[in-house]
Amino acid sequence: MTIQLEDLELLEAVRCFGLEQQDPLVEKFKPSLRDWGDDWIDVERTRLPAADFLDDALARAVPQTKSLLETFVRHRSRLRWEQSYSKEDGVVPDTMLAAYGFAEILGKQGPFVSASIRAGVGIYGPNIEYPIHRHHPEEIYIVLVGAADFMIGSAEGIRKTAGDVVFMKSNTPHGFRTRDEAFVVYYLWQGGDLRETSSFG
Ligand SMILES: [Fe+2]
Repeated sequence: MTIQLEDLELLEAVRCFGLEQQDPLVEKFKPSLRDWGDDWIDVERTRLPAADFLDDALARAVPQTKSLLETFVRHRSRLRWEQSYSKEDGVVPDTMLAAYGFAEILGKQGPFVSASIRAGVGIYGPNIEYPIHRHHPEEIYIVLVGAADFMIGSAEGIRKTAGDVVFMKSNTPHGFRTRDEAFVVYYLWQGGDLRETSSFG
């Protein structure tokens, strides 16, 4: 298949959202967002129950996150919805596997192939606990909708809500618990293996 207009729309929505952020923590990710690469691959479209939270998320969106969420709702069925873990891994609770997923737009495995940046949208249903884990790439979450309580390094109970930027340094233990509504984030990774499997415990 050749690249479609919808793919480019997703790419631009994801790149522009990151580049428009004013928070200094996002600055160091911007060079990679600007010069992400130039390759595109056709990816398999997949479905996950977590994607169904997007309608509710859009209804609760704040003005600065609405446009990005609208783009993901519009193209929901053409995206590759993924999970990093499986039941066999035994590292995250079944309740998380039942209600989480992400759609990557920029990254090592496409659809827009980048060796320097990973970007997409992650969805976590209500009352999910994402256990403490770590990875070498540094990570940014920008909260699009909802709230979660984070543990990052030695700091606990840090509540993050729509518009907040969360920065996880390389190899810093982190995890979070969502509250009683779906929690949707824009995420960025850079440095190291952009598909590194997180370590737990
Ligand atoms: Fe992480």
